Amino acid sequence: MNTDLLIVGGDGDLALRKLYPSLYYLELNKCMPENTRIIGMARTAHERNAFLTTVKEWLQNNVAESLYSDELWESFSSKIFFAQGDATNPESLEKVKQDFLKEENQLVVYLAIPPSIFGAVCNSLEKCGLAVPTTRLVVEKPLGDSRESFLAINDELARTFKEEQLFRIDHYLGKETVQNLIALRFANDIFEPLWNSRYIDHVEITVSESVGVGNRWSFYDATGATRDMVQNHLLQVLCLLAMEPPATLNAESVRTEKLKVLNCLKPITAETVRDYTVRGQYRRGIVDGKEVPGYLEEESDKYEIDPNSQTETYVAIQAEILNWRWSGVPIYLRTGKRLQSRHSEIVVQFKQSHHQIFDQNHAEHQANRLVIRLQPDEGIRLRIMNKVAGLEAGIPLESGCLDVRFGEGSKVKMHDAYSRLLFDVLRNDQTLFVSAAEVEAAWKWVDKIFAGWKDTGMKAEGYMAGSYGPAGADVLMARSGREWHNVVKD
Ligand code: BG6
Repeated sequence: MNTDLLIVGGDGDLALRKLYPSLYYLELNKCMPENTRIIGMARTAHERNAFLTTVKEWLQNNVAESLYSDELWESFSSKIFFAQGDATNPESLEKVKQDFLKEENQLVVYLAIPPSIFGAVCNSLEKCGLAVPTTRLVVEKPLGDSRESFLAINDELARTFKEEQLFRIDHYLGKETVQNLIALRFANDIFEPLWNSRYIDHVEITVSESVGVGNRWSFYDATGATRDMVQNHLLQVLCLLAMEPPATLNAESVRTEKLKVLNCLKPITAETVRDYTVRGQYRRGIVDGKEVPGYLEEESDKYEIDPNSQTETYVAIQAEILNWRWSGVPIYLRTGKRLQSRHSEIVVQFKQSHHQIFDQNHAEHQANRLVIRLQPDEGIRLRIMNKVAGLEAGIPLESGCLDVRFGEGSKVKMHDAYSRLLFDVLRNDQTLFVSAAEVEAAWKWVDKIFAGWKDTGMKAEGYMAGSYGPAGADVLMARSGREWHNVVKD
């Protein structure tokens, strides 16, 4: 079926930085449905050629040089149009409809705009007869800053669109390695019998960034790491890691299992928040050999920096999933800006066997550990124990590892997270999109942590830019005799 993709906010940062480059990848992979037309809509007027030049520049900056070709650009750009207008105004939208959209085509609307105007755009779409049962609507975070504000945004969408028409993007679900968690767990039968509290000591999920908040200070200060990263990306990764095997890979089965995980998260309240969470804020330090300013010294975009801001640029949380499989297994989540390096990984630390037959004087017998590296350098690494080669008496041990790198052999990526997700919207597959119930459950859990911080007056602890985070995060782990997996030390 011919498709019209209307991008509202079509000249904005998200559209230019992510959407057009990702659509280009679809063209490159010959995945763009035939006769697709991409209509960028924005309030500012642009002449089509000038608009295409801007898109081309962003594309060349965001797509690997070897994947760009003038020939492909020609065919891709012939599909892109620009429509000037205010999508909250039905008259404007009607004009776009007349000029660019065809009733018999599949309509996909991408709202690359702030949620505060989602409702007005939905009304406008309805008034113009564009909100028909086949229309698909794509939205993404921030979807509120609490359960209450999410429900208000969602009500506005739900007034016009049914759940099966709504595609809520969490770009982490578009990442190859995040999807690979499903393959790792359910296509490799050796892991499943071990994937529970009987064999697993603890789990760590780390998303570490070396960048600071840059010129997003005012946005970030009202958001913080917990809302920006934990409520969505980290909890989604946790869901895929911890969910029960879904009956099938369709959207309903996968989303039902993920929701069960979120609903089983043990609430963290004012009584436990000091024991189970750590908030941090970066101070001046050195990242990649360069001195960088502290969070309160960043150049703000619009507002004066609040010198008393307690916004967390780092958070560590000890979570627990209260169900048959996971009860008793600490799940450590942590994420932060201006950390030592950019890397994301999941560590599944297995338990040590109860009875040791090896001579402990020879070498430390370490339990198995599975490290799933999400980025960069994607792959998995399983720590195993080996005999030290030689004539020494007994069976002395040393650790080695099975190391699989997924990226090897195909260094240049032919797609990114957004292209996978956009392709799924075009083929109407909601499996990798987040349901309203999931977003609500995630907010419910996160809201309690914020309430706990407020009630206890818990402040953000400073950490040096370029470090692994605040000392409190090490204490959080050390309390149970554990330590973070910080460097490749398998
Ligand atoms: C975004 C956050 O959702 O994810 C950013 O708003 C963060 O603050 C980004 O930097 C991280 O995404 P990635 O794909 O670079 O890990």
